[in-house]
Amino acid sequence: MGAAKERYLAHIAKYPGFKSLRNKINFFYRHSVFMFDAPVLMAAGTIAGLPGLTRHLSPAEVSHDRRKKDRDLDISLGLAVKGFILKAHSLGLGTCILTAPLHFVPDLDHVLPQDELRLKCFITVGFPDQTPDLPPRRTVGDIYREI
Ligand SMILES: Cc1cc2nc3c(=O)[nH]c(=O)nc-3n(C[C@H](O)[C@H](O)[C@H](O)COP(=O)(O)O)c2cc1C
Repeated sequence: MGAAKERYLAHIAKYPGFKSLRNKINFFYRHSVFMFDAPVLMAAGTIAGLPGLTRHLSPAEVSHDRRKKDRDLDISLGLAVKGFILKAHSLGLGTCILTAPLHFVPDLDHVLPQDELRLKCFITVGFPDQTPDLPPRRTVGDIYREI
């Protein structure tokens, strides 16, 4: 993973926003490498095929919404991951979802075979060292908007 970080840093050396981007790359790298310290590291992904109605519409070339291709599967995976982390929590385990490593892990094909599965995130699992306070709850007005 370090090689990918060094490659990014070398690549952006002449970029005008170099310092800020360098800090971001280092930040996300730090928030990636710790996953190897976790007692259990899981990889989660979706199947490579088309989901639901898209699978049926696609051969007939009816649907042109390319965003639809991954959307249903990504939502399903997100719900499955949520179920997993809530179950882990109920068993006294701590988890952390990570997507930043997808930028740094070399050759993702070796993690999951990409022709069959699309790797979407990693999940660390272990007994938590800390029990931090809950963050302040957002109000409905913060997260809801009528359109
Ligand atoms: C889609 C997604 C990707 C994330 N990727 C990372 C990551 O790469 N590295 C990281 O340290 N935290 C990442 N996080 C944040 C942690 O998984 C976790 O949600 C965050 O630390 C807040 O934890 P808390 O809700 O227990 O406070 C990600 C969260 C989500 C939802």
